Amino acid sequence: MTLINQFLLNKKVTFLNHGSFGACPIKIFNEYQLWQKKLENQPVKFLDQYRDFGPNMTNVRKILSKKINCNSNNLAPVVNATTGLNAIIKSIQFNKGDEVLISNHEYGALEKTWQFIKTKYKIKINVVKVTLPLNSEDQFIHDFTKKFNNKTKILFLSHITSPTALLFPIKKLIRLARQKKIITIIDGAHAPGHIDLNLNTLNADFYSGNCHKWMMSPKGAAFMWSSSKYKNHLDPLIVSHGWNKKNKSINQKGALGNSRFIDMFEYNGTKDPAAWLSVPASIRYINDLKNKKLFKSQSNVLYDYALKLSKIFKMPLLADRKFLPPLMISLPIPKVNELEFQRKLYKNYNIEIPIIPWEDKSFARISYQLYNSKRDLEKLENALKKLLRF
Ligand SMILES: Cc1ncc(COP(=O)(O)O)c(C=O)c1O
Repeated sequence: MTLINQFLLNKKVTFLNHGSFGACPIKIFNEYQLWQKKLENQPVKFLDQYRDFGPNMTNVRKILSKKINCNSNNLAPVVNATTGLNAIIKSIQFNKGDEVLISNHEYGALEKTWQFIKTKYKIKINVVKVTLPLNSEDQFIHDFTKKFNNKTKILFLSHITSPTALLFPIKKLIRLARQKKIITIIDGAHAPGHIDLNLNTLNADFYSGNCHKWMMSPKGAAFMWSSSKYKNHLDPLIVSHGWNKKNKSINQKGALGNSRFIDMFEYNGTKDPAAWLSVPASIRYINDLKNKKLFKSQSNVLYDYALKLSKIFKMPLLADRKFLPPLMISLPIPKVNELEFQRKLYKNYNIEIPIIPWEDKSFARISYQLYNSKRDLEKLENALKKLLRF
C-alpha cells in the first residue's frame, strides 16, 4: 500500500527528494486553499490582528508547541528555516575575535550567513570536522568540546544535516556548551515531523525548523524558537507595525500586543499566512499516519535498502543507524560529476533525487517518505547500476 494517491505529485516521476522542499498531501493542500479563500473573502477582517489574524496565528502556535514540546510564547512563525536562523544570527552582538563553531556538514546557505557575519564583524568561524563514520556520541562530543575556548561565543549545528543526512546527537553537547557560556543555535530544517522533537528537553538557546518539509505543510510554514533568556533581545528582521508596540491592553485574546517577540515576528507587513494556518492540519495528518505504524516500516525499508546498495557499491554508510534520520539517507556513491549525474537520472530514468558533492565525495541523498514504495528504490538501484556500470 502506498499513499501516493493522497499527494499531488506527478506519478510519472520517481520522487525520492522529499528532503529539498517537501510535498503536501491533497488533504492539507485543500485546507491551505480554504484559508486563502477566507482571506480573499474578507481581507480586512482576516488580516486584522485584533479580529481574525491574531487569534488564528496564536491557535497555530499553541497546537505546534504541543507537537514539538515548547512554550507557545517562545515560538514565532517565519517563512522558512533560513529566515528564522538569519533573524537569530543577525541579532547577536559580535565582537572582533569572537569564535563560532560549526560542523563541516552545515547547509550551504547558512554557511554563507556565517561568512557574511565573519566579514562584517571580523570574527572567526571554526569548522569542526566530525569523525566519520559517526558511531559514537562521545566521539562526536569530543570533536566539538576540544575546540571550546574562551573566545567561543556560538555553537551552530544542524539537527539533521543536509548533504550527509546525519542525525547529530546534540542534546548533551548543548548542555556542555551552556556550562561554558556558549550560545547554541540549532538548524532544525529537517527535524519537525521527521523525528520526535522536544525543544524543552533539548534545551538549546535557539532553534528554527521547517513545517514544509517533513510535516508536509504547504511551502512557507516554518518556525523560530527562542529560549526565554534571549527572546526579548532579538531584533526583527523586518521593522514594521509589530515592532515596539505599545497598545498591550487592546487585545483580550492573548495574541498580538502581549509579547514583543511575537509581535515582531508575527506582524511584519501584509502577507498570506495560509501555509502557517495549515500547520494544524499537517499535524493531524502525520499523527494519524504514525498510528498506523507506516512511518516505522518505511524507515526499515529505507535502511535495509541503503545498506544493500552500500554493499553493492562497496561504500559504507556514514553512520550507525541510530545517527541516521528515519526517512532520509545519503548514500555514498563513486565520485561523479554530480550535476550531470543528477540530470541523467532525471532525463533518462525520471528519477528526482539530489546528487550531492560533499568534501571530495558524491552522495545520492534518498528521501523515502510515506508515499514512496520499494519499487522506487528498485528503479533507483537499476539506474545507479547502469550509470555507474556495476
Ligand atoms: C540543514 C538545512 N538547513 C536549512 C535549510 C533551508 O531550508 P529553507 O530553504 O526552508 O529555509 C535546509 C534546506 O534543505 C537544510 O537542509
